[in-house]
Amino acid sequence: MNTTPNRVEHQLTDKGYVPVYTTAVVEQPWASYSGSDHDVWATLFARQQQILVGRASDEFLRQQRAMGMNPDRIPKFDDLNRVLRATTGWELVGVEGLLPELTFFDHLAHRRFPVTWWIRKPEQLDYLSEPDLFHDLFGHVPLLMNPVFADYMQAYGRGGVKAHAIGADALVNLTRLYWYTVEFGLIKQADGLRIYGSGIVSSKGESIHCLESAAPNRIGFDLERIMRTRYRIDTYQKTYFVIDSYEQLMEATTPDFTPIYAKLAQQDSIPAGTVLDTDTVYNRGTGEGWLNDGDV
Ligand code: PHE
Ligand code: FE
Repeated sequence: MNTTPNRVEHQLTDKGYVPVYTTAVVEQPWASYSGSDHDVWATLFARQQQILVGRASDEFLRQQRAMGMNPDRIPKFDDLNRVLRATTGWELVGVEGLLPELTFFDHLAHRRFPVTWWIRKPEQLDYLSEPDLFHDLFGHVPLLMNPVFADYMQAYGRGGVKAHAIGADALVNLTRLYWYTVEFGLIKQADGLRIYGSGIVSSKGESIHCLESAAPNRIGFDLERIMRTRYRIDTYQKTYFVIDSYEQLMEATTPDFTPIYAKLAQQDSIPAGTVLDTDTVYNRGTGEGWLNDGDV
């Protein structure tokens, strides 16, 4: 899998080439999108729409309809913002790509969600190593219409500003929480497990894999356990964590994390594929296809 970002500038330093993140908020250059850009949006949108029936959470699908993103043309952030602002007070801001951590947290803490303005190329429909407009808009924005999830995202941003001041280990713990909820979370509905994580809903392969494959573990949400668990950035996840409700997520994360960070600093991290005796196990993964190394 290609891990070379194609939009993040790189600069040669004594540590080799390092990415230079662009901090600025940019205007969405809507008039500059090509016919091919709009086609990529339409193709991915139609494909995921079909795959997500019976797989994405009811709330994700409901809010996606309520939001009314155009399936055929790349939506204008300004149009989506009218709906979002009126619903939960969130606002989308255009960015070049990944942001420095503190900048990202600050946006979330102010109910601004950074959306990458550019969209992947036709040959990148199935996999991209960095977020693009399709992932950000299609994946993240619908649940910002849900009042509880909207508050969770803001609380996460505030928590990020705090963790950043505490130190690097706290940030690692908090990032794992984001990864296993916002990006790769599953939710238990009365009729079965469903997807709410953006990294999954924007991926055809993982939308099927996370629910239907016997390979991954599916384990009940447990805050401290998640904050200790390493993850994959280059393959499907070995483990998915299942919440009962968005309220559960909000309640479990409301306490001050400062003492939790201190406690976790004394404990080892857990490999991405490990199942513990204390886990609530929905599915114990077969581990088929797992790579031994590469958990981050
Ligand atoms: N309660 C967390 C703290 O005190 C903040 C937070 C909220 C983190 C929601 C993640 C999600 O740091
Ligand atoms: Fe994302």
